[in-house]
Amino acid sequence: FVPPASGGAGGGSTAKDAKGDDVKVSAFIAGKAKGDRELTQGLKGDPTYIVVADGTIADYGINAICTHLGCVVPWNKAENKFMCPCHGSQYDETGKKVRGPAPLSLPLAHAAVTENDTIALTPWTETDFRTDEPAWWA
Ligand code: FES
Repeated sequence: FVPPASGGAGGGSTAKDAKGDDVKVSAFIAGKAKGDRELTQGLKGDPTYIVVADGTIADYGINAICTHLGCVVPWNKAENKFMCPCHGSQYDETGKKVRGPAPLSLPLAHAAVTENDTIALTPWTETDFRTDEPAWWA
């Protein structure tokens, strides 16, 4: 497996669980519903949500660090939003900011399933598909 080119913006990493072991996609999606979001350790060790899709994972991960002052933002399934407990910022299901005081949407990463059943995360340097603006974090 060769991760997608990252435009020279730094390497990728393999999503890890809380114990530091590689997340296995087949086990990760087992028992989860489409649309579930769960934290892994992603690029630079940042907490990163992986999104469960139909029998696989979505091709993007969402950095969970609030763009306000850095709290880790929990996923609220009932509200279908990420809701920051610190000062009330909210992000939609893709991590796009919908309520401040956070100034910006949550950063994205590319997520791909490898032939080893792990998740390769690579930097997202392209246009932010949620806002059609340049990736502010790149
Ligand atoms: Fe999330 Fe302030 S750190 S709203």
